[in-house]
Amino acid sequence: MSSSNDSRRILITGGAGFIGSHVVRRFVKDSNYYVINLDKLTYAGNLDNLRDIENESNYEFVKGDICDEDLVHQLFKDHDFDGIVHLAAESHVDRSISNPLEFAQTNVIGTLTLLEVAKNNWKEGKNKLFYHISTDEVYGSLDEEGLFTEKTPYDPKSPYSSSKASSDHFVRAYGNTYELPYVISNCSNNYGPNHFPEKLIPLLINNIKKKESLPVYGKGENIRDWLYVEDHAAAIKLIFEKGRSGETYNIGGFNEWKNIDLVEFLCDLMDKKLDNEKGTSRKLITFVKDRAGHDLRYAIDASKLSKELNWRPSVTFEEGLEKTVDWYLENEKWLEDVTSGEYMKYYKEHYSKT
Ligand code: NAD
Ligand code: DAU
Repeated sequence: MSSSNDSRRILITGGAGFIGSHVVRRFVKDSNYYVINLDKLTYAGNLDNLRDIENESNYEFVKGDICDEDLVHQLFKDHDFDGIVHLAAESHVDRSISNPLEFAQTNVIGTLTLLEVAKNNWKEGKNKLFYHISTDEVYGSLDEEGLFTEKTPYDPKSPYSSSKASSDHFVRAYGNTYELPYVISNCSNNYGPNHFPEKLIPLLINNIKKKESLPVYGKGENIRDWLYVEDHAAAIKLIFEKGRSGETYNIGGFNEWKNIDLVEFLCDLMDKKLDNEKGTSRKLITFVKDRAGHDLRYAIDASKLSKELNWRPSVTFEEGLEKTVDWYLENEKWLEDVTSGEYMKYYKEHYSKT
């Protein structure tokens, strides 16, 4: 099926992952778009995340690597893209600590490959857009006070955040040097359906279900700013359509939680959902060795996005977390499939939480 003349043809990378699948669905449901989803299907990519839209006439999936310049070039030739929404990445901080080269390859070289192909194909850049989805971690770590704004200097501290900061710099360099039209957004911690259970919230849900211990790094005093994934996906579509070229937008939930408070809150919610006696899940909490170089606090000032594009989170944390827990309890097969795969075996061996 080819795209109709008046639809906007876009390349979404990493669309089989957690956030990417919500973004792909949102664009595919809008018939103004024709979407090509390019994803390598690493351990984090899962086509089950997209079963409900896989047969839509304005959607195509391509299995491949963003570092494969010939493949990306061929996709540009075949589809003459109007825009790229680039999410493909290695995304887990713990993995970046034990495997930094993989992060440099996908996050830096992969992004650079996409930029190079876009630059070479978009001779007339007008009406084109390269949108890089980035993270608040590029700004480093906050003490108790203050918020990250778009003007906060970059100060990445983990191999993951360094690779994302590097790719942000390359995107801006292509804008400055070759006039490639771009936009970047830097978002806080997402949670919601289809989140791979190596990350804190789905890991807790999975372990509570299985009555396994709940590893809390250090004293659980680190703070994160949580945003429901659908609200991030909505912000991404809005920025793609209405954001100003050459700008950066911070996206966050206005929703800071100390890890231990979040863990206890989730334990109590799970007890209610599972009809457990109150306090049952909290007994599983285990304080373990801290993450190396663990950033203390992230908190986003998303007022630019609110003021310019009128975006706000649509759900409270309590509502979003309940939707998330319900989704995991209703999608046992999804959870079973991803946790019984080879990767989770590897994960358990290599990331022992003691
Ligand atoms: P994820 O790990 O769930 O998904 C990443 C996807 O990218 C997977 O489908 C994977 O198969 C694909 N991928 C990996 N390497 C690839 C390659 N070389 N070529 C093609 N595809 C490849 O990640 P996520 O949590 O959905 O994050 C998506 C993006 O959003 C990332 O760029 C991440 O840095 C950014 N981000 C994430 C969060 C968060 O809280 N999860 C917050 C802010 C920004
Ligand atoms: O801030 C945005 C970033 O949020 C994204 O760019 C990353 O892709 C995403 O993975 C996330 O990074 P974090 O490192 O903040 O997320 P994670 O879920 O791994 O950890 C959240 C907090 O919980 C962090 O302080 C570490 C802690 N933690 C995590 C795990 C997996 C634990 O205490 N125990 C755990 O087992």
